[in-house]
Amino acid sequence: MDTIVPPAIEEYCAAHSSAPSSLLEEVQAYTTRNFTDAQMLVGALEAAFLQLLVRTTGARRVLEIGTFTGYSALAMAEALPADGQVITCEIDVERAETAQSFFARSPHARKISLRVGPALATLGSLAPQPPLDLVFLDADKESYLDYYERSLPLLKPGGLIVADNVLWYGRVLEGQGGASEATRAIVRFNDLVRRDRRVECVMIPMRDGVSVIRKR
Ligand SMILES: C[S@@+](CC[C@H](N)C(=O)[O-])C[C@H]1O[C@@H](n2cnc3c(N)ncnc32)[C@H](O)[C@@H]1O
Repeated sequence: MDTIVPPAIEEYCAAHSSAPSSLLEEVQAYTTRNFTDAQMLVGALEAAFLQLLVRTTGARRVLEIGTFTGYSALAMAEALPADGQVITCEIDVERAETAQSFFARSPHARKISLRVGPALATLGSLAPQPPLDLVFLDADKESYLDYYERSLPLLKPGGLIVADNVLWYGRVLEGQGGASEATRAIVRFNDLVRRDRRVECVMIPMRDGVSVIRKR
């Protein structure tokens, strides 16, 4: 798959951003060795970005949709205060077990609540209070709009939705006539967010594209 940012530039950016913890490096190495789709991890640069967002917004309650082996959930947990919480959703049992085994080794384990099952079901089970401060969308692209619409009412005014893969390896340029359902779904998502008066947003060409969306 094409990368948006030249790999050497991304490496340079990561090398000049705060370094990941040794446990995060271990999650990355383990995932690369044992899973064919290790590129799904956000990686060091985007993890540092998520940590900065969590810290600068003072977030306490975070929802992540798409755990995989736990890299980004762990990164955000590291940045949360002691009474903070990341609820992270994963549909695949093996991936969830791997993530849980890494969470268990972290001093931030108490902040992480892993929910195994379809994320839409987990979203439907969340209490509206206290509201969410930050939502990180990083699961099946076909459901991004549903995740967005379901999480927006749970988010506090001023809270953030951060959506990953919004450039979808550049395929968003295919537009509404995109070849795959995932491409068309991301295009619909990006178009709707841009028009949505409930939010303000910025799309950043970091890795595979990250949109930061603030609820008004
Ligand atoms: C891109 S990976 C997440 C990577 C992770 N955020 C990280 O950077 O460490 C997406 C994950 O979403 C999970 N997923 C896909 N559809 C899902 C669904 N309907 N509900 C919950 N998780 C889902 C996949 O099994 C996969 O592990």
